[in-house]
Amino acid sequence: MTSAQAAGGFALRIRVPAKLNLFLAVRGRRPDGFHELTTVFQTVSVHDELRVALIGQPGRRHHPAGRRRMRLELWADPIVPQGADNLAFRAALQLGELSGVRPVQGAQDRDAVRTILDLAKRIPIAAGLAGGSADAAAALIGLNRLWGCGLTLAQLRLLGAELGSDVPFCMTGGTALGAGRGTDITPVLSRGPFHWVVWPDAEPLETRAVFRAWDAHCAPGGARPDDVLYALHSSDPRQLAGVLWNELEPAAFALRPQLEERRRRLVDAGALGVVLAGSGPTLLGLAADLTSARAVSERLRDDGVPPIVASSPAGGPLVTPVQGDSDVGPLGSLGR
Ligand code: C5P
Repeated sequence: MTSAQAAGGFALRIRVPAKLNLFLAVRGRRPDGFHELTTVFQTVSVHDELRVALIGQPGRRHHPAGRRRMRLELWADPIVPQGADNLAFRAALQLGELSGVRPVQGAQDRDAVRTILDLAKRIPIAAGLAGGSADAAAALIGLNRLWGCGLTLAQLRLLGAELGSDVPFCMTGGTALGAGRGTDITPVLSRGPFHWVVWPDAEPLETRAVFRAWDAHCAPGGARPDDVLYALHSSDPRQLAGVLWNELEPAAFALRPQLEERRRRLVDAGALGVVLAGSGPTLLGLAADLTSARAVSERLRDDGVPPIVASSPAGGPLVTPVQGDSDVGPLGSLGR
């Protein structure tokens, strides 16, 4: 037993990847205001890390009275949305509500059990890479275990879908076909790895604004994901590069015309194909191999936000118990 466990502490680390959309077709606007999508999701090796920790007197953390006074704290870099604007924090509140754990902010009782969400942010924010959804997925998976809620993955996915359209995919990862709002997930086969130059923009782009621009400028088409699914079987990056597809591109490019020039720069630097990441503004350059991805990235290094070399698919969320005293406290070492 570590000293942290002896003091009533218990923690898990959840490493969770970002996502790409290799294919995204918008079928139209739905009565609920969302848009009906057909998409192919794949995780990519850019990860956030969330540590969830329960701190309190020995034995108190499982006591119902202790749970009623659960204090919830988010430790994260100030650039990350705080409080209920943060999807991981909101996920904790909703899971608590559903499972009878009552997280409150700033309880006076110094003995109150504390749950700490300690977020190390690596996935660019509001970039089209589902960083916020990944954090929410990590929080749901981690806290379900930490609090002993006992929800099944299917129940967690339903809860996740209320928080964000990408959360259900982020909970399982790998490669999947997404339908509905993007929340109906069917795993599909992908060989790989594929090597990417992930090139974030300096300014974020709001997903909602991109879908509004789609309403203004675009109409539903009949594109199908078959070619992308076939290319994923082949594991040939040249084949995949030729069929990458994202129908949010015209809308995002209308809002951010500089993306056209950035796309050209990626191609000139040696990318086989370029596609917008989700609703953008990150651009994804698919490279022939890892060496080529590094070379492309190097050629773009002096131009704004540095590119990230990453590979896909990147599996799903990875949960590990936090071992050893140095790891357990102070938890803020990652996020503060
Ligand atoms: O679900 P998520 O939080 O990612 O959605 C953010 C916004 O993007 C929504 O409020 C909605 O305006 C838009 N959206 C949409 N159709 C989708 C997903 C998102 O219109 N399938």
